[in-house]
Amino acid sequence: MDTKVYYIYGEDNEVLNEAALYIRSGKNVVFPTETVYGLGANALDKEACEKIFKAKGRPQDNPLIIHVANKDISDYAKNISKNANILIDKFWPGPLTIILDKSDIIPKEVTGGLESVAIRMPENKIALELIKRSGVPIAAPSANLSGKPSPTSIEHCVRDLSGRVDMIIGGETCKYGLESTVVEVKDNKVTILRPGKITADMINEVGIDVKLDPAITKESKVIVPKSPGMKYKHYAPDCDMIIVVGDKNKVINYIKNKTENFIKEGKKVGIISTEENLDQYTKGIVMNIGKGTDLSGIGSKLFSVLRELDKNKVDYILSEGFTSNGIGMAIMNRLKKASGHKIINV
Ligand code: TXA
Ligand code: MG
Repeated sequence: MDTKVYYIYGEDNEVLNEAALYIRSGKNVVFPTETVYGLGANALDKEACEKIFKAKGRPQDNPLIIHVANKDISDYAKNISKNANILIDKFWPGPLTIILDKSDIIPKEVTGGLESVAIRMPENKIALELIKRSGVPIAAPSANLSGKPSPTSIEHCVRDLSGRVDMIIGGETCKYGLESTVVEVKDNKVTILRPGKITADMINEVGIDVKLDPAITKESKVIVPKSPGMKYKHYAPDCDMIIVVGDKNKVINYIKNKTENFIKEGKKVGIISTEENLDQYTKGIVMNIGKGTDLSGIGSKLFSVLRELDKNKVDYILSEGFTSNGIGMAIMNRLKKASGHKIINV
């Protein structure tokens, strides 16, 4: 399949019109959002959505998020409760996905057979404009091959999906770089199924009592997550990955010693370091994830750093760990998934 790739900065009328035409005619278009790039199709067209699963190599039972350009979602969801309306009002457009009862026009191919539907109104201008011009909601998972880190730049999308989708548009690096927070709203009760930029504290602050799905906080593999996507192995590098947490000096020493040992064994090692500790590591491929105090910055770089180490074909990744406060919960959630929950507390 030929993939048209358009680098656009800001809203390019011609490209957006062509992309919207593609969506309306049942084709797949990759587009930027403020979280990660999405692989989009007309959410009301089941054949178009089936192509998404094929392009990504995604299991059919893993439902898609539908993206809208308007806060009125009464065509797509039923039983929209008071708390759902508060969330929509306070956090849309933005990196929050809300799971509600689906209406009949949403095909079951989109929701993985579930009676619920995940909906998000993105804030990215290109995303919003594409949805508006298409005139339909756009179903879109992250635009990576299944099992790879989510894409935060157009280069990541081209690398994964060139030849597998009809069009890729964009240029900008995603502002947040981590996928949206996913919340389920059932009987007016709100539960976070996937942590992200919109934190539990932020939801509490708007007067909603929010719970965390036990699959996020507990390490046990016995707990089945409510979000089908959270059960799948996410980015699992070919190499082993270890996250090291604890006292700062001990973490540094552990990573240094491990690196030396691995290198002695003839292995290639990648290190994920905060900016302030960079000088400490003199061996291995050292990636700067940003200042330890700037969790937003760390979140926005995480996936590109993982992809960079992948390209370098390292045998091991040793990563400093981060606080689980605020957006740190989302960062640690993605790191744990990438490492298969290999965390060492020193
Ligand atoms: O930021 C994002 O959310 C990006 C951009 C493109 O919007 N999209 C994204 O989509 O991350 P995806 O498909 O990679 O992740 C969607 C997650 C999956 O874990 C999926 O299982 C869950 O949302 N999900 C979707 N519909 C659901 C439903 N009805 N019930 C429970 N979980 C659902
Ligand atoms: Mg994804």
